[in-house]
Amino acid sequence: MSTDRPVKPLKVALFGSGRIGQVHARNIADHPDLELAWIADPFIDGARTLAAETGAIAVESADEVFANGDLDAVVIGSPTSTHVDLISRAMARGVAALCEKPIDLDIERALACRDAIKGNNTPLMLGFNRRFDPHFAAIQSRVAAGEIGRLEQLTIISRDPAPAPAAYIATSGGIFRDQSIHDLDMARFFVPDIIEVSATGANLFCDYIEEAGDFDSVVITLKGRDGELVTITNSRHSAFGHDQRLEAFGSEGMLSAGNVTPTTVRKYGAAGTEESDAYLPFFLERYAAAYRNELDSFAKAIRAGIPCSPGFDDGLQALALANAAEESARSGRAVRIENSVKIGQP
Ligand SMILES: NC(=O)c1ccc[n+]([C@@H]2O[C@H](COP(=O)([O-])OP(=O)(O)OC[C@H]3O[C@@H](n4cnc5c(N)ncnc54)[C@H](O)[C@@H]3O)[C@@H](O)[C@H]2O)c1
Repeated sequence: MSTDRPVKPLKVALFGSGRIGQVHARNIADHPDLELAWIADPFIDGARTLAAETGAIAVESADEVFANGDLDAVVIGSPTSTHVDLISRAMARGVAALCEKPIDLDIERALACRDAIKGNNTPLMLGFNRRFDPHFAAIQSRVAAGEIGRLEQLTIISRDPAPAPAAYIATSGGIFRDQSIHDLDMARFFVPDIIEVSATGANLFCDYIEEAGDFDSVVITLKGRDGELVTITNSRHSAFGHDQRLEAFGSEGMLSAGNVTPTTVRKYGAAGTEESDAYLPFFLERYAAAYRNELDSFAKAIRAGIPCSPGFDDGLQALALANAAEESARSGRAVRIENSVKIGQP
């Protein structure tokens, strides 16, 4: 008979019971090595409903979370404006953190946070969940293994089904920091060292986005240190639903991932052929596996005592690229990254 004592699951607190908080809550509750102990949200009714479903305790404030001596990890799914403070508190307590993107809308605040936590080895992960999407992750590892030779061009297409409401757009930080940031991180997943950013934006269909001074459609071009070219195409709408595609083109071939449908059933009729189900509606469905895999990677990194990936600097780099894209779209000029925001390694 084994004398090994069973390992107790890691005690986790979740901040935020909104859209992304609900995804994380269910995934934490389902994870064999994690226990969802607390859900914190000043909107206590939201926290209570989610806590009742997942077996957690609902609390109103971060103070109540950090007062618990047996807290092992936090997942930060509260609004962007709360991220820097909650990361800082978790790191100061030596509590591992998985924080949603972006770190902050203001890179100066993010850089100040980085300085404050410099040298702190507590696991800290940034929620760029798309790195954990099985389709994109498979392409990235096959490119890294040299299957298509030298990577020359990467094409990322990411269109939302419909624009977010005006109130969300007003505080989103703009399309580059809100939507494109996922694709900028995806670009860095394949081409970590980006040296130049060009972008252009347009207002093609949404009045309230234009009134907010933002674009509803953008195209970004990135240049990698070894000459790789990356294009990112974003739109806040798509008549045929959530459009998420990626193509890696190399000297020896190409790897591509198309949109995902609930089934592979195809209809063939007089009016058309190859008709499939509609694409998975939006990010909650399309990236469901990615959120689970991301959380699993976080838990494993804590247990193994290894750095989390993507980490805080990946969050900073993606934010710097988003800022550069905004600058390029407003000025009409390409932005060299070395001359923009300088971010060294910690
Ligand atoms: N990775 C992704 O795919 C993804 C998707 C959506 C949102 N996000 C990010 O997640 C964050 C939350 O977005 P959302 O769409 O879930 O927002 P949301 O508005 O749906 O939910 C946010 C929740 O946080 C609560 N809250 C506010 N202040 C808080 C605090 N100090 N502590 C704890 N809870 C607090 C709010 O009451 C609300 O219930 C944002 O940073 C967003 O960029 C990431």
